[in-house]
Amino acid sequence: MKVTVHRKAHFNAAHRLYRKDWSFEKNDAVFGLCNNPNFHGHNYELIASVTGEIDPETGYVIDVKILKDIIKSEVEDAFDHKNLNVEVPEFKDLNPTAENIAVVIYNKIKPKLDPKFQLKITLYETPRNFVTYSGD
Ligand code: NI
Repeated sequence: MKVTVHRKAHFNAAHRLYRKDWSFEKNDAVFGLCNNPNFHGHNYELIASVTGEIDPETGYVIDVKILKDIIKSEVEDAFDHKNLNVEVPEFKDLNPTAENIAVVIYNKIKPKLDPKFQLKITLYETPRNFVTYSGD
């Protein structure tokens, strides 16, 4: 019997979507307003979902405090109030789309968890636009 524990978190961050090897015109055509050279911000909402067996002794799948602390150190401390393109090394040469941010977050959190758990990342860039990544 597997149960999924979800933890929500939040960070504000700025980004710009563009490729250095494309002209401004091509970046503008593909990324539109997100190619603003002066950057723009989003209020990102994160849901980290951990799936596993219930421990018969504790009744927990995972102590949510452990998950909370991992999210704080790996995501909030690293991304909150940052310019993702400029200040976060993972995005130096990687477009900080919601898709890529979700993959980066997964790759930061997964190694901190017991390997017996499955992890799924849900990342809202706006209340209506969100992506999910489960390591596939
Ligand atoms: Ni944007």
